[in-house]
Amino acid sequence: MAQHTALVINGPNLNQLGVREPEIYGRTTLADIEALCHSTAKPHGMTIEFMQSNAEDKIVEAIQNAVHQQIDAIIINAAAFTHTSVAIRDAMQMFKGIKIEIHLSNTFSRETFRHHSYLSDIVTGVICGFGADSYRLAVEAAASKLQSSA
Ligand code: DQA
Repeated sequence: MAQHTALVINGPNLNQLGVREPEIYGRTTLADIEALCHSTAKPHGMTIEFMQSNAEDKIVEAIQNAVHQQIDAIIINAAAFTHTSVAIRDAMQMFKGIKIEIHLSNTFSRETFRHHSYLSDIVTGVICGFGADSYRLAVEAAASKLQSSA
């Protein structure tokens, strides 16, 4: 089985999951989500690297590092930066592997400013609205895409 690595990137305020607007984002913490990503990836022989930052520059740097390292897929919940950041979009354009945009909430059923994403048109696919399960589905999708392209 090919050994693939996926980088899971989490943007601002996602470190507050569990206490942050639980009626929208649920009660699952980011640590729970990280564990879910690892356990989902394991049977596929896939390794997960997991990071969170509230700072746009740290996220841009993580993507730049992924371009130069052995990262096969990026799963990104850019949180509020989804709707604002040309810098994160430009960095994601440089990454040539599988790119999956995810959201816990269904951003299309919320305020109109959340309907536009700077990432959706440049990624492989988008998963949103399944709560913490969006992450599990994204890891499964990345594993499936990487296996079919291996
Ligand atoms: C989010 C949706 C964004 O609109 C919001 O700014 C977030 C979280 C989600 O996972 O549902 O911080 O990306």
